[in-house]
Amino acid sequence: MEKPDNCILVIFGASGDLSRRKLIPSLFDLHRFGFLPPKFSVLGVGRSKLSDTKFRDRMMESVEEFSENQPVDKDDLQDFLKKFHFLSMDPSNGDDYKKLKLKLEALDKRYKIGGNYIYYLAVPPNTYETIIQNLGAQGLQKESSADSRWKRLIIEKPFGYDLESALQLMKTTKRVFREPQIYRIDHYLGKETVQNILIFRFANGIFEPLWNRNYIHHVEITAAEHIGVEGRGQYYDGAGALRDMVQNHLLQILGVVAMESPSSFDSVAVRNETVKVFQSLRDIPREEVSKFVLRGQYTTSAIQGKIIPGYREEDGVPPHSRTETFAALKVFIDNWRWGGVPIYIRAGKRLPTRVTEIAIHFRPTPHFLFAKESREHAGLNELIIRIQPNEGLALKFALKVPGAGFRVQNVSMDFHYSKLSNTPRVASAYERLLLDSMLGDSTLYARGDAVEACWRFVDPILKEWQENPGLKVYGYPAGTWGPKEANRLFQEHGIEWRYPCKNLVDDGIVCEF
Ligand code: BG6
Repeated sequence: MEKPDNCILVIFGASGDLSRRKLIPSLFDLHRFGFLPPKFSVLGVGRSKLSDTKFRDRMMESVEEFSENQPVDKDDLQDFLKKFHFLSMDPSNGDDYKKLKLKLEALDKRYKIGGNYIYYLAVPPNTYETIIQNLGAQGLQKESSADSRWKRLIIEKPFGYDLESALQLMKTTKRVFREPQIYRIDHYLGKETVQNILIFRFANGIFEPLWNRNYIHHVEITAAEHIGVEGRGQYYDGAGALRDMVQNHLLQILGVVAMESPSSFDSVAVRNETVKVFQSLRDIPREEVSKFVLRGQYTTSAIQGKIIPGYREEDGVPPHSRTETFAALKVFIDNWRWGGVPIYIRAGKRLPTRVTEIAIHFRPTPHFLFAKESREHAGLNELIIRIQPNEGLALKFALKVPGAGFRVQNVSMDFHYSKLSNTPRVASAYERLLLDSMLGDSTLYARGDAVEACWRFVDPILKEWQENPGLKVYGYPAGTWGPKEANRLFQEHGIEWRYPCKNLVDDGIVCEF
């Protein structure tokens, strides 16, 4: 494995939730599995008055609590955290960036880094522009081609609140950083199984010839979560399922499923292809929003005697909120490969279980030879790509029921990663993406033009929802598969959503293919 250059990772919002739950445990995993550069340091930045020791203690607790790779070797962790420092400053105060500059120079000298810095903005999105401008004012983004010192910026979604704010953020960011310095993180692209779609499609000869409108009847992309808003009611109420999951994670998955083969596997070539998918999404005009998009909100329900509160009863959510916790869309990609193939996308909270999957449904045979009643058992051939949990793949096709006559049944050929005896450890999405940022590989990061194209597609839907109070928000009892009206999107095709699991909120359910 290639090792990244020596660097300092500056984390704005270092004592926040994202940092504690994801970033620091992922950094420790990169360290213990030997991926970090030989000289490395972390500088936490924030308003809190923390000493280095106090900061390290907190980070220690985070790793112990949130690391996915238990047990944690305490001595190793303590040793690793010696490279962690904290700078108490006000990120909205331009003058404080002089302190940041001095601190970086001191750490650089102490650890012999050589001038490579990553700025990670793990802070609320409304502070991004101020921080970026202030970094620019102190010249902290400047690179040197003479000795190849680099500076990179990582920003977390949401990249904007709507098209206008996304364009504004892009403008400010690009005034300070060049596009190749900007890493927009979408953690779904860091998921192993999402990357595996690329291998599955482009390292096999048998599927790609079928991967088009001639053979594919329709596609479903589902991201179901059984959790509610988990104390993030205030953030979520300003976002909703369309902004929180569809505009970014699910459209990025669609990009990987629907793209053409890139000319090579580098970040420019790969992202050139995914952006074409987003640019080819058929616009949904405002007057047709209700035909192609449907939203819902979970209501109180009782499951096995346990009361599950409705969305409007969650902390931080106004009692008359119309924010959607479920969104379902029918979209089309207007190009030669996908012309006319409906693609159904749905995302929701408080659904029966946690499952993210892609289902490719193939066209039926042109003529069915066997008994009529067998036809429904035959179904459509399906390929299910399970992204999480229970990662794997299943291909469904028809076979004969043994015995007399010619009865048809649908069978499934499954592959589960967990069944591989020699599966290497699967890195978490943040671990993979942090390492890529240090390596300067932005293939799995969202590029500005892609983010813009996704906002262009989603923006009219959001505007229509916001400005047309007549458009319904359908209720669905927590723990079910969303509003039953969502089936309306399928009507003209005589099909319905795939339901990977029964209706029951329960952590323990493992969805079968
Ligand atoms: C985040 C959303 O981006 O992704 C959350 O803000 C959502 O609302 C989460 O729960 C889902 O991520 P994962 O990796 O658990 O599927």
